[in-house]
Amino acid sequence: MARLNDKMRKALKLKLDYNNMMADYVGEEQGFTDAELKRAKSIADKAFETVKANRGQGMMGWTELPYNQAEIVEDIIATAKDIKKKFDNFVVLGIGGSALGPTAVFQALCHLRHNELPKSKRKAPKLYVEDNVDPERMVALLDVLDLEKTMFNVITKSGSTSETMSQYLIIMDLLKKKFGDKAKDHMIATTSSNKGNLIKIAKQEGLKTFYIPDGVGGRFSELCPVGLLPAAVVGVDIKQMLDGAAYMDKICSTKDLKKNPALISALLEYLSMQKGKNISVMMPYADSLKYIADWYCQLWGESLGKSVDKEGNLVYAGQTPVKALGVTDQHSQIQLYREGPFDKVITLIAVENYRKEVEISEGCKDIPDVSFLCGHTMNELITSERIATEYALTTAQRLNYTITLPEVNAFTIGELLYMFELETAYAGAMLNIDTFNQPGVEGGKNATYALFGRKGYEETKKEMDNATPKKADYII
Ligand code: PA5
Repeated sequence: MARLNDKMRKALKLKLDYNNMMADYVGEEQGFTDAELKRAKSIADKAFETVKANRGQGMMGWTELPYNQAEIVEDIIATAKDIKKKFDNFVVLGIGGSALGPTAVFQALCHLRHNELPKSKRKAPKLYVEDNVDPERMVALLDVLDLEKTMFNVITKSGSTSETMSQYLIIMDLLKKKFGDKAKDHMIATTSSNKGNLIKIAKQEGLKTFYIPDGVGGRFSELCPVGLLPAAVVGVDIKQMLDGAAYMDKICSTKDLKKNPALISALLEYLSMQKGKNISVMMPYADSLKYIADWYCQLWGESLGKSVDKEGNLVYAGQTPVKALGVTDQHSQIQLYREGPFDKVITLIAVENYRKEVEISEGCKDIPDVSFLCGHTMNELITSERIATEYALTTAQRLNYTITLPEVNAFTIGELLYMFELETAYAGAMLNIDTFNQPGVEGGKNATYALFGRKGYEETKKEMDNATPKKADYII
């Protein structure tokens, strides 16, 4: 797709509607007044300035990804072209940020049954993202792969994540047994250029390697080679995605709350947290965006869930992110969201124009309770159900707001991802926490190393051995 002009970009601008966060709609007890937002303006201003001052530095290297990857993008596109020619399957080995982004973008921008399409229609390799170490899953994957026609992409920033490295060891062993010296032609490494083990291994094995910039953490990495290579392999226009991100960055370059969607949504979430809204529900009304909600959950949860603030005070900050899918979860979760505790902020994601239209056929003329659907489209139905849910939540005084994508395409997905990343950075600044570390994740990783007897983790092993033993009494 050709680069978009200003008019086209404007037509693809995301919309944020936060009416239903306001007291006028959900009542004074739950909602916010203009006066409250005005009073909180200084909090937003400060967060905006902090993010602006730190962009491009430290762990905020991700802010520059839309601008500083021209050469890398060309390399990715050329590599993807080659992979498309030679392989039928592309398998990502990775976990956390290395897996959720590729999955989210694949689901958003490819045919929803991509892997099941015949090759002639698919026009790109099948994509598998292996983000677990369930042995049954590994065997199941190997059962459906022809190694001859498979390219693997091992992705780990630290180069030492047990899950990813165990997958790598299993696959590399198989590849070597099958292809000998040519095993390297079936594996690409995406990792830090200077830290961890994968870079050493990649050099030893002579693997094609892409680098994860130092200032880009796992959950902020979708717009670097972590996400761009898998996306390009399945035919996503990655330049368009980066363009969308740059466009959102430009939109968010003002601290005017009426113009910066990432800043106002961060402020509303922050103020909601102060009112005890400890849960953030992400509910897209589109199957294509289902895994964007998963990706968001990691971004929001891992970034904001922190026990201490920047001064070391215990704060136990964060909001539990919950994924939901419209309309599916209307028949599962909405009962709770509408009538349960007042502890949630619900973000609905709407799509203005779905990429397909399906008419509901005529029939059952003699049964009015069914025939009222006839002559309408599924598009009308899903849209009406979203509007109806929004109404139902609002009349029950439940805080909710809606982000609308004019349509789902590479540009709008770039906008959406970047907006959520910025929103997270603003919210972290408001909470005065380190948004970009993950000591809680490291805790689990280190305990696994200790259990496996990894060198350097002897102390952790000792601590674990000395922990209070479980009582048989409590196991029934
Ligand atoms: O956001 C993060 O940094 C983490 O969730 C990582 O993505 C995850 O732990 C995987 O780490 P790595 O890329 O080092 O394998």
